[in-house]
Amino acid sequence: MRLLTCLILIAFLNLPAQEAPPGLTEYMGRQIAMTMHWKGAEWLIRRVREQEEGPSKMREQLQVKPGMTVCDMGCGNGYHTLPLAEMVGEKGKVFAVDVQPEMIEMLKQNIDRKGVKNVVPINGLYHDPKLPPDTCDMILLVDVYHEFSHPVQMLASMRAALKKDGLLVLVEFRAEDETVPIRPEHKMTKAQINKEMNANGFTLKREFDGLPWQHLMFFGKSEAK
Ligand SMILES: C[S@@+](CC[C@H](N)C(=O)[O-])C[C@H]1O[C@@H](n2cnc3c(N)ncnc32)[C@H](O)[C@@H]1O
Repeated sequence: MRLLTCLILIAFLNLPAQEAPPGLTEYMGRQIAMTMHWKGAEWLIRRVREQEEGPSKMREQLQVKPGMTVCDMGCGNGYHTLPLAEMVGEKGKVFAVDVQPEMIEMLKQNIDRKGVKNVVPINGLYHDPKLPPDTCDMILLVDVYHEFSHPVQMLASMRAALKKDGLLVLVEFRAEDETVPIRPEHKMTKAQINKEMNANGFTLKREFDGLPWQHLMFFGKSEAK
């Protein structure tokens, strides 16, 4: 009996620690979008983005303060990371996470060029953003959540990375509005966002409806989970 226990333990300890579970193509009735390829990164810094999406207006709504620790999840080439680094100041920190090493490389070039010192680039995994637990005041996801192939694992990891009163902030193209010129699988309705967040331990705290194309929704940790 003792030998059997030992054999089971040895087999367990030899399991690869970080084996990724299979990715989904659909979650809670929604088609999951393909990850935007790094070769299209120029689109993220297009000149008309300010006019189309109102990113400065969006960042004003975040209420980010100096000294905060913020995460730019799915940061791409750092379009929002650099302004966030300025907002948190030298006493604050921005974790910038992306699954594509090429995006992280572009981000690093951008922060080096500007001499930014308070950004921590992280090459995350599709099911694990590799964030330290209980550290973030805010995790911002701009045009990212709908691409997650592992939404449940990602939400659980982000929940663990948030401080008790930390906020998960979703910016998603409005699926309710057919004049928003984005492919359907890259858009989400408020109802769908709330359904998925509530099922994973998050509750809507506030929202802002004044962006041209996107929902801006702030979620806190639910009491029960
Ligand atoms: C449409 S881009 C948005 C980039 C950036 N947030 C912006 O607004 O400019 C989506 C990004 O999310 C990243 N992404 C997709 N799944 C991810 C995951 N599980 N963890 C981290 N990043 C992810 C992609 O690699 C891509 O760079």
